Amino acid sequence: MSVEPDSAVSVAEPAAPKGLLAEVQRRRTFAVISHPDAGKSTLTEALALHARMISEAGAIHGKAGRRSTVSDWMEMEKARGISVSSTALQFTYGDSVINLVDTPGHSDFSEDTYRVLTAVDAAVMLIDAAKGLEPQTLKLFQVCRHRGIPVITVINKWDRPGRAALELLDEIHERIGLVPTPLFLPVGIAGDFRGLLRRGKGGEAAEYVHFTRTAGGATIAPEDLMSPEAAAAREGEAWETAVEESELLSVAEQDHDQELFLAGTTSPVIYASAMLNFGVRQLLETLVAFAPAPRSRADIDGLPRQVTDPFSAVVFKVQAGMDTAHRDRLAFMRIVSGVFERGMVMTHAQTGKPFTTKYAQTVFGRERSTVETAYPGDVVGLVNATALAPGHTLYLDKKVEFPPIPSFAPEHFSILRAESASKYKQFRRAVDQLDSEGVVQVLRNDIRGDAAPVLAAVGPMQFEVVSARMRTEFNVQARLEPLPYSLARRTDADSADELARQRGVEVFTRSDGVLLALFSDKWRLQYIQKELPDLTLEPLVATAD
Ligand code: G4P
Repeated sequence: MSVEPDSAVSVAEPAAPKGLLAEVQRRRTFAVISHPDAGKSTLTEALALHARMISEAGAIHGKAGRRSTVSDWMEMEKARGISVSSTALQFTYGDSVINLVDTPGHSDFSEDTYRVLTAVDAAVMLIDAAKGLEPQTLKLFQVCRHRGIPVITVINKWDRPGRAALELLDEIHERIGLVPTPLFLPVGIAGDFRGLLRRGKGGEAAEYVHFTRTAGGATIAPEDLMSPEAAAAREGEAWETAVEESELLSVAEQDHDQELFLAGTTSPVIYASAMLNFGVRQLLETLVAFAPAPRSRADIDGLPRQVTDPFSAVVFKVQAGMDTAHRDRLAFMRIVSGVFERGMVMTHAQTGKPFTTKYAQTVFGRERSTVETAYPGDVVGLVNATALAPGHTLYLDKKVEFPPIPSFAPEHFSILRAESASKYKQFRRAVDQLDSEGVVQVLRNDIRGDAAPVLAAVGPMQFEVVSARMRTEFNVQARLEPLPYSLARRTDADSADELARQRGVEVFTRSDGVLLALFSDKWRLQYIQKELPDLTLEPLVATAD
């Protein structure tokens, strides 16, 4: 696709296509980060309900009948007949276009879960009001912090007995240093959720949103908007408590500040019940009002690719064999700049080769439909994109390459052995291919040699994918033997020799050249850090920093 030059602009600097900026400004691309069971599927469904994609929610709240390896969204699609992608759900809300990018987070937690966060502009941290911060939420939050992704916090399940409103905020503040700045405070304690107090600019009670339950939370909960006076008359002490809490937060300077939110210092908070659809509209309004629209992205030289520049995109996930009937590979790209039009021939930055997009698709669960046009912030699936791997760049006209997606801290380690020595060549080819695709991290050291590499993964499901693909695509039977390590730290050549002499530690080189020291457990690590404080042992959220 070529861009029509505007008469007022020189041909060398083509103007952005008409309407591109407007399309960018109305887009919000985000992911939900949460621990299993916090209510992500329920919230996704509630958002779809509010966006009028479905007319009724509730049928899939229960876990019964879900198949663990299948995305919940596929189940949702089956149950409701709505168009839900296993990778991105797009819907309009008022004038806005919302892209909700899926973070697989249940049994299929893997490096992909983290990579998805490179494709979003904001995250919603979903917390169970009774449980507070949980391990998986923390891990995902660290990735958001590392990447500078602004976070909106939703405290869910307020319809059920749980902890005190301010206590949950204190926990967030103290444990992760994120300053919670509620936009809405609950009226009524956890378990007695009556409505939300909307905090005005200086933290004063601006409005009361009273909710009415619907049967099973299946439809949008009707809202009554009331003045603070009417709220006080209606809710009495519950309202006064919320007003007091709001004042306390203001004294502690916990009021929303857009700049601090975008900088990742503060997080607007909404109390909600995804199941009853309380607070869901407020979340959508918050996304529209405060979450950033797609912005420029720095290229490998640190120069910004503006959203109005010619088309460019980053591949953030590659899924092989999604459709067992046609063994294929889908590469999902997030558009960074320009307009995508199906059929255009773009360049694959890593190889310099042309790439046709005749079969660009949005993926709707098992159904796929062709995508004709897409804008920055949108996610498009490319079929049979064998040359593409996570982190790769595609562009049009003006050359660009984005920095690679960092590798994340692995927690599972296994030796991979070919069952038959006669297939060694295929075995090596398969390992190299899966390594380059980012399916797992491949580690080597001189002592173990090359015949049986060590695989490192964020989630054990990555190993299953390796075994399955070795068998089906490369016709190699391979065996995985778990190694007794659970922790990796980045080290350097100076520390490596000393570390290799320690019990319960092994040092490897990852294929990107990074030296990793593996430890059996955190006590071993702590002991070594205490005994040998001069060794380099850095935590590994990401390694591209
Ligand atoms: P996940 O995708 O994050 O794993 O969570 P999911 O939505 O599946 O929700 C996990 C459980 O929490 C479900 O209960 C769901 O109904 C419940 N839940 C989600 N949001 C809320 C909420 O706002 N309030 C209350 N009270 N519960 C909520 P389940 O026991 O697995 O199924 P079910 O028998 O309750 O349907």
